[in-house]
Amino acid sequence: MLTVRAPATSANLGSGFDVFGVALSHPADVVRVERADRTTIEVTGAGSQYIPEDPEKNTVGAVAEALDAPARIKIDKGIRPASGLGSSAASAAAAAVALNELYDRGKTRKELVPIAAKGEAVVSGDAHDDNVAPSILGGFTIATPDGVTQVDASVPLVACLPEIVVSTRDARRVVPTETSVDQLVETVGNAATLTTGMHRDDPELIGRGMEDTVVTPARAKLIDGYSEVRQAALDAGSTGVTISGAGPAILAVCPEHDRKHVASAMLDAFEAEGVDARAYQTRIGQGATVHHP
Ligand code: HSE
Repeated sequence: MLTVRAPATSANLGSGFDVFGVALSHPADVVRVERADRTTIEVTGAGSQYIPEDPEKNTVGAVAEALDAPARIKIDKGIRPASGLGSSAASAAAAAVALNELYDRGKTRKELVPIAAKGEAVVSGDAHDDNVAPSILGGFTIATPDGVTQVDASVPLVACLPEIVVSTRDARRVVPTETSVDQLVETVGNAATLTTGMHRDDPELIGRGMEDTVVTPARAKLIDGYSEVRQAALDAGSTGVTISGAGPAILAVCPEHDRKHVASAMLDAFEAEGVDARAYQTRIGQGATVHHP
């Protein structure tokens, strides 16, 4: 039997739609696995009542099948589903790392990324590597069809999660199907700025590089209070604010000394809009960790 903790993640970071992702130091999902003749799944924790335990319908069941690794699997959710914090990806990532080890499959962490993504596709309808990659590898990841590039980074963040549910499927429906060359040029500049910022652990460059005029404005309409919360975070010292993944969580980058202030400003702004929320004072952290009993 072994246990794997896989972190929440924030995908897109504005200018890197479907490509960029970061691991958060917390919250996280914890998955326990034990060899068995057939796969069974038990789910407890945040939002567990909404997660199917049927292996055919659970992210983790697809991972067990892909690795030919039947197991008794217990998932303790620290990350609420439909939050924009990579909830299903964290379970899939944890299961991939755990079952690879339990059955000695010998896959590298990078090889486990597409396997975990297959699991995530069971719930999101589409395979994206931008959440599973950072959950498995940690740090900042750039996931393209040709593979994943990982950069170790450590920058303070606030992830503010309102009590609103936005499904990834709905959030993908509002993504524009066309963009202008001007917006393409702007996006390339921002994405390059952000990537440089990650190499330097520089909240200023990362924040500036998170600007996005293509996908984020379309999705912001699905989140009550988005503009107010964003402005409140910027006023409190955040260097950049965007939607975390498909939302509704909102991600703010900031210098360490402003993090607490940014978190309470975001909560106050949601409250003023009549929306309950919680704020994780977190940072870019490590990928899935294995714990033997
Ligand atoms: N890049 C994805 C999206 C992340 O924003 O739709 C969620 O799977």
